[in-house]
Amino acid sequence: MSNTILVGAQWGDEGKGKIIDFLTQQADIVVRAQGGANAGHTVIVGTTQYILHLIPSGILRKRTTCVIGNGVVIDPIGLVEEIDGLKKSGIDPAGRLHVSDAAHMVFPYHKAIDAAREALKGKDRIGTTMRGIGPAYGDKVDRVGLRMGSILNVKRFAEQLQQAIKNNNALLKSLGATPLPVKRTMESVLKAARRLKPYVTNTVQLLHEASSKKKRILFEGAQGTFLDIDHGTYPYVTSSNTTAGGMCTGSGIAPNRIDRVIGVAKAYTTRVGEGPMPSEDRIVGDLLHGMGREYGATTGRERRCGWFDVVTVRQAAMLNGITDLAVTNLDGLDTLESVKVCVGYLLNGKRVDHQPSDLRQLAKCRAVYETFPGWQSPTDKIRTWKALPLNARRYAKALARLTGTKLSHASVGPARSQTITL
Ligand code: GDP
Ligand code: IMO
Ligand code: MG
Repeated sequence: MSNTILVGAQWGDEGKGKIIDFLTQQADIVVRAQGGANAGHTVIVGTTQYILHLIPSGILRKRTTCVIGNGVVIDPIGLVEEIDGLKKSGIDPAGRLHVSDAAHMVFPYHKAIDAAREALKGKDRIGTTMRGIGPAYGDKVDRVGLRMGSILNVKRFAEQLQQAIKNNNALLKSLGATPLPVKRTMESVLKAARRLKPYVTNTVQLLHEASSKKKRILFEGAQGTFLDIDHGTYPYVTSSNTTAGGMCTGSGIAPNRIDRVIGVAKAYTTRVGEGPMPSEDRIVGDLLHGMGREYGATTGRERRCGWFDVVTVRQAAMLNGITDLAVTNLDGLDTLESVKVCVGYLLNGKRVDHQPSDLRQLAKCRAVYETFPGWQSPTDKIRTWKALPLNARRYAKALARLTGTKLSHASVGPARSQTITL
């Protein structure tokens, strides 16, 4: 493996953290390049479960260098909490974790604005993770944000922060929300900023030097293709480019340095938050929630569930240039007599094979299904492709064939060992 991008091919929570952890054994550096603490990537090592929000999942392997790139929005208080959480588990990120000086910061007022805007939207809310992602990226694009590099000059940073809190308190008032206490907010941010100083560096340079030394770089996409600000189901999306191109702009690594793009998809579909999802089906939700599965790793919200949607994953393959498909949670379907797959949509009686970009049109799309025979036997203890039940193999292969990809991994449980490489 040389330089590899891994992206979510659906609406997030595809099992990216688990597959990244598995692939990290063949990587030198793992990079997050977009999103922020809205991500929740679950990795299980032995009997310990880790949920990573900002720190790349590669941190769990001792020799791996981890980079939080310029495209990420970083909540300094949250990042310190995450570092301390890892330290408690015996993993010290110091010296192995590098944070871009050009990454923008998420402050408590971004979170408060996120919450206030969602409340004002009422039934039209996006269903955000409330991590301040939209307002922080908004400030970045508006050119009024503060970047991680600014914490290196604490005195000046304190002045800029104070002004920003005051400005945003005015905004909060206009949104009908309570302004933040200036002194206390300053103290909590400055305390975190001081702790983060040693991690801040020019990660573009770092990555280029590593790349010229033939170090293997693995990009850990956050969210999923259909939460992309441009290519997702706008406005029910996140505020960054979650697709493969976002990994290049969000890290400073050029597109022609990328050798492989892996798409991760669940063997079914899930989504948290609002927005259309044509293959949503209560039967799948009841099945998975009944097993205690499909609750959000960041917010604990119940995920909406449905059948695998070929239309979306095929579109994800096109948008990201997916070469390899990792299918996760195959074991979630173990008990079913038959498994449905959405192979197309009906829009006003006409068959369509791509997602209409107009949200109202997409909301009108009805799923057209093909039914596959189930395998009705547990797969979680299976470790080789050949040992999987024939119908499970046929199903997983069909998902790759129908989406125009090559099946590279099949995952049958949350642990490292429950990953089958083809
Ligand atoms: P991410 O955001 O893409 O990293 O995914 P999340 O961690 O938010 O959600 C995926 C969930 O599925 C987590 O609870 C994982 O531990 C779990 N998981 C991943 N792959 C598998 C699998 O193949 N089988 C089972 N049973 N669970 C899995
Ligand atoms: P990972 O990396 C699933 C969703 C939210 C909401 C929308 C906008 O774990 O796959 P935001 O807080 O980003 O402004 O919310 O995007 N969302 C995710 N859904 N997995 C994620 O990350 C998500 N990050 C954001 O639920 O619908
Ligand atoms: Mg997640």
